[in-house]
Amino acid sequence: EKGGYDHFMLKEIYEQPSVIKDTYRGRLLANEGIIRMAGIEDNLEKFLNADRIIIVACGTSWHAGLVAEYIFEEFTRVPVEVEYASEFRYRNPIIGPKDVVIAISQSGETADTMAAIKLAKEKGAFVFGVCNVVGSSISRETHAGAYTHAGPEIGVASTKAFTTQITVLTMIALRLAKAKGTLSNTDYHMYLQELELIPEKVKEALGTNDIAKEIAATFIDAPNCLYLGRGYNFPVALEGALKLKEISYIHAEGYPAAEMKHGPIALIDEQMPVVVIAPRKGHYDKIVSNIQEIKSRSGRIIAVVTKGDTEVRKLADFVIEIPETSDALSPLLTTIPLQLLSYHIAVMRECNVDQPRNLAKSVTVE
Ligand code: M6R
Repeated sequence: EKGGYDHFMLKEIYEQPSVIKDTYRGRLLANEGIIRMAGIEDNLEKFLNADRIIIVACGTSWHAGLVAEYIFEEFTRVPVEVEYASEFRYRNPIIGPKDVVIAISQSGETADTMAAIKLAKEKGAFVFGVCNVVGSSISRETHAGAYTHAGPEIGVASTKAFTTQITVLTMIALRLAKAKGTLSNTDYHMYLQELELIPEKVKEALGTNDIAKEIAATFIDAPNCLYLGRGYNFPVALEGALKLKEISYIHAEGYPAAEMKHGPIALIDEQMPVVVIAPRKGHYDKIVSNIQEIKSRSGRIIAVVTKGDTEVRKLADFVIEIPETSDALSPLLTTIPLQLLSYHIAVMRECNVDQPRNLAKSVTVE
C-alpha cells in the first residue's frame, strides 16, 4: 500500500515528479506552444470578461491559491483576491456576474469551501473548481473545473495535492495570458518549456532528502520555528510552517521576509531556527539582507537556495540546494525540501505522521 515507504506522506512526496506529469499530460504541449484544458476552453469568454478572479479555499489549498494570485496577476494582469472560504461565506462579499470564482479543494468535500461556492453561485458568479477527487461534491457543485490528477492523497498533510494544484493554476494563467496577449511570446514559450522540465527538477529536489534529515536532527527539540519567503515564495513559507505545525506539533509561523522587522524579529535568538526561502531569481538581494538581519541576532538559518549559490552559503547554518527555474515556477521546487524537513522532524519526534492528532483528511463540518 505504501509502496515500500514508511508513511503515505513520504510516498506522496516522492510521487510528485510523476503526478505533476499526470497533471499536465495532454494539456501542455510545450513544443507546439499549446495549453488546452476542456474546462477553460469551454468557458474562455467568462474568464476573459472577468473583472477579477476570487479564489476561495482552506488550508494548504488556500496557500496554492496565494501562489496563484501572484502568477495570475503577473501573467494575465487580472486582479485576484484570495479568501479563506470560511471568511468569505460569512461576510456578505461583494460579488456578481462579472466575477469568476475559483474554488480549490483536494478532497472536494470541505464544508466551508462548499458553502462559499453556493454563495458565489447565488450571487451570479461563474464558479470553477480545482479538485483532486474525481466526482467529489465540489467538483459537481461548480460550473466547470479542472482536476489535478494527483491520485489518492492519504496522508493528512497535503503534499502532492499542493504542487499539482499550482501546476493546474499555472496552466490556466498561461492559457489566459495567451488569449489576452499579456505575456510576451518569448515568455509564454519559456514558461511552457520550463513547466515541462519541472518533474525532472522536482526529482532532483527530492535529492535533498538526506540533508533535510540531517537538519531535522538538529531541530527536533525546537519549540518554535520561523519560515520566511518573498514574492512567489511567501505562500511557500506559510505552507512550510503549516506542514511543520500539523505533523510535528512544533509551533511555526510563515512570514513575508520583509515583515520581520515589524514584529517577529523580536523572537529571534540562538534557539530559533529560521527557514529562509532564497532562490537566485526573484528578490534575491533583498532576501540576502533579511538573512543578514537574522544572522546578526544569532538566529539559526536554514536556507533553501538555487544550486551553486555562494552568497547565502556564507551566512546560513545549513543550505538546501534546489535546481534553477523561473521565479514564478520556483514554488514547485522550494516546497519539496520543506515537505521533507517537516516529515523527518515529525518522524524523529515519533509523531503520527499520516494521522496527526485532532485532524481529519477532509473537513466536512465547519
Ligand atoms: O480538501 P481540501 O483541499 O479542501 O482541504 C483543505 C484543508 O483542510 C487542507 O489543505 C489541510 O490544511 C491539510 N491538512 C494541510 O496539510
